[in-house]
Amino acid sequence: LPTLVVLISGNGSNLQAIIEAIRAGRIAARVAAVISNRVDAYGLQRAADAGIPTETLDHTAFASREAFDQALQERVDSFHPDLVVLAGFMRIFTPGFVQHFAGRMLNIHPSLLPLYKGIHTHRRVLEDGGNEHGVSVHFVTPELDGGPVIMQAKVPVLPSDTEERLAQRVHVQEHVIYPRVVKWFVEGRLKLENGQALLDGKILHQPVL
Ligand code: GAR
Repeated sequence: LPTLVVLISGNGSNLQAIIEAIRAGRIAARVAAVISNRVDAYGLQRAADAGIPTETLDHTAFASREAFDQALQERVDSFHPDLVVLAGFMRIFTPGFVQHFAGRMLNIHPSLLPLYKGIHTHRRVLEDGGNEHGVSVHFVTPELDGGPVIMQAKVPVLPSDTEERLAQRVHVQEHVIYPRVVKWFVEGRLKLENGQALLDGKILHQPVL
């Protein structure tokens, strides 16, 4: 069975969606481990409840970003994953880490990339008065939130929205699209080649919506 390692920093609702898709037989894979950089991440509890081994690697205990990434790489490698799934992992990686997992690391980002890279995406959309927002799943490349986008889902921005309400609406879509992209990858349908995402052998010029 294809092996996943999921990296989290917080709530882990995307982790939960993937666990449930596996349990329901929609994804033929197993989660070998969930690794968090924060001890208090609720996703660690979700993993434990699902019988998945967990590890915590506290980034504040490392002298440098390089040292943390080196240690994390060793922990991830120890599970020999086919795919590394970033599910709310809120650390920026060194280029060496990204290179090591090139073509086998996915991220979910709460915006319609290339719009709103970085953090506080919901707040920034509201501040800008945008009427459309959403979520993207992409391959991780050294450019922050800049790797080829595989799938997106859009949500409307409503006049009554707060940051929390908008985030909630985006989350519902995250839990739909991330399991679908993970499924494509473990089925061998999705590849990263020459910096481009390929689905069923065809270059994805536009994200799947
Ligand atoms: C999700 O909204 C995800 O898109 C975002 O963190 C949240 C994690 O939620 N990721 C990023 O902002 C990456 N820079 P979860 O812990 O409930 O899955």
